[in-house]
Amino acid sequence: MLNKLRVLLTGGCGYIGSHTAVELMRAGSEVVIADNLVNSSASVLPRIEELGGKRVSFYNIDVCDPEALDALFEREHIDAVIHFAGLKCVPESVSKALLYYRNNLDSTMNLLERMNAHGVRYIVFSSSATVYGESNVPPLREDMPTGACTNPYGMTKHMSEIIIRDAARAEGKLGAVLLRYFNPIGADESGRIGEDPQGIPNNLLPYVAQFATGRREKLFVNGNDYPTPDGTCIRDYIHVMDLAIAHVKALDYIVGRTGCEVFNIGTGNGYSVLEVIAAFSKACGKDLKYEFAPRRAGDIPVMYADSSKAERLLGWKAERDINKMCEDTWRWQSNNPMGYEK
Ligand code: NAD
Ligand code: UFG
Repeated sequence: MLNKLRVLLTGGCGYIGSHTAVELMRAGSEVVIADNLVNSSASVLPRIEELGGKRVSFYNIDVCDPEALDALFEREHIDAVIHFAGLKCVPESVSKALLYYRNNLDSTMNLLERMNAHGVRYIVFSSSATVYGESNVPPLREDMPTGACTNPYGMTKHMSEIIIRDAARAEGKLGAVLLRYFNPIGADESGRIGEDPQGIPNNLLPYVAQFATGRREKLFVNGNDYPTPDGTCIRDYIHVMDLAIAHVKALDYIVGRTGCEVFNIGTGNGYSVLEVIAAFSKACGKDLKYEFAPRRAGDIPVMYADSSKAERLLGWKAERDINKMCEDTWRWQSNNPMGYEK
């Protein structure tokens, strides 16, 4: 079925969207990207085409703009949408809360309305493990309570999930999949595409990778007094290509169905900050020296997924381990020390 699909990727120039675009093309789909480049660069497009072996139709538009989306849907025959577009920086969402609610909620509602108007029936949405908040005990399951998020970014994911679920219920013709990503890291193994955050990275892996190239002077481990074996936070890191494959499987699952299903996308294994630094040191062949720093506000000590529902219903399971994640991140970072050089 997938080789006949023409899929719109909102936010497709970003980190996860670009990898998913490549994986979709490898699976036989046609890809259309809509991105306003607020957190990405158009220079990723030729690399996506090079790896996917096909042309990509690109629209430099804001997904919150209804006329722009109408024009796209009129011109392209879209079968399904993967909605990656969104702002994702947790501390920025605290200081610019309204910007985050406006962008992340308007884009989702506008997209659903314009899809409905143009008869597009399938959507896969980028949600996050952050919707589980801090009161659930891992392994986190899809049926656990959500919404006690610690920041506006997380709230936009929780609210978008509700909006999409209710739209599917109301319209009766919509098929939706909500994917709750855990911690995506890594890169396509070609080293041609990868994560390229603007400014100083907030997240552990891009920071460690930039530190390893010498682009960052110091590496800080935030908090060493958590109730974990080595005192540092534990996360479920997932290779971005395993995540990309999860999107292909989610589309395969939802096309032809209606309703809304939610899936965790993680490996089920947790690694501490110190274990990740050790794995990255091995991958880059350098002894990465770190310093302990105070806890980061809002960090949850331990998060990892129960992804058995995705295995059962999507036939998906993560295959790449933490060493592969670090090796592929390092290949991308060492070949492109300044990222895409926008
Ligand atoms: P990213 O910032 O690299 O990609 C998002 C893309 O959306 C960017 O290219 C940006 O320019 C675009 N965009 C933002 N607002 C837009 C708008 N209004 N109109 C058009 N384009 C717009 O982020 P990513 O890491 O690839 O994440 C993709 C999605 O997955 C996001 O929704 C993010 O919240 C979610 N997610 C990411 C992580 C993670 O750790 N990376 C974890 C869980 C969920
Ligand atoms: N950390 C450091 N030093 C750094 C950066 C991070 O010690 O320089 C630590 C953090 O304190 C945390 C761990 O590394 O303990 C992981 O931090 P990340 O920022 O990489 O990941 P988070 O789990 O905090 O957040 C990520 C995404 C969110 C998403 C969440 C879902 O950034 O958008 O995963 O679990 F909501």
